[in-house]
Amino acid sequence: MGQTVNIDDFRAAMARLAAGVVLVTAHDPEDGPRGEDVGMTATAFMSVSLEPPLVLVSVRIGSRMDDLLERQERWAVSVLSESQRHIAGRFALRGRISDRLLFEDIAYYRGEESGAPVLGGALAILECETEQRVPAGDHTLIIGRVLTARTPSADGGPLTYFRGRYRYLG
Ligand SMILES: Cc1cc2nc3c(=O)[nH]c(=O)nc-3n(C[C@H](O)[C@H](O)[C@H](O)COP(=O)(O)O)c2cc1C
Repeated sequence: MGQTVNIDDFRAAMARLAAGVVLVTAHDPEDGPRGEDVGMTATAFMSVSLEPPLVLVSVRIGSRMDDLLERQERWAVSVLSESQRHIAGRFALRGRISDRLLFEDIAYYRGEESGAPVLGGALAILECETEQRVPAGDHTLIIGRVLTARTPSADGGPLTYFRGRYRYLG
């Protein structure tokens, strides 16, 4: 039997992989007459394939986003800029009941393909449709086909995360 890694060693090693930070969003159509928007800060996001264009996000099983993406196949990703650190912070809080107030003072618009809120001022916006859900340990790998990809705000650096802290490039 293979040796099992110490979980703290594993965490520490992965914390040294510098990552860009994204906000995954989706619209929950079942939540009341107006519906509700949900967001989740994520670093486990990557490009998978060019033809067809696929991306992947790893979402913790039991998280609100995991539950929502079981019902809502369209979602969006906003690649955060360095000026959006406060947004990353608020959408990472555990145990939230509603995200309604969290979107209130944020400049966002609704993606045409996904109906999901997408952030003004993000470095890039992708709208996706789930192709595959792959259970992987305590996370679900959600593979999405990219429906639209835009780079509305070319200026400014990315928000990154390294060794447990948000960082800026340059
Ligand atoms: C920098 C950073 C990166 C994160 N990346 C992920 C991720 O890739 N996947 C994930 O499921 N959660 C990730 N999280 C945690 C979620 O943002 C957080 O658990 C979620 O928003 C809280 O909602 P919940 O109570 O439904 O889990 C990350 C948090 C931070 C601060």
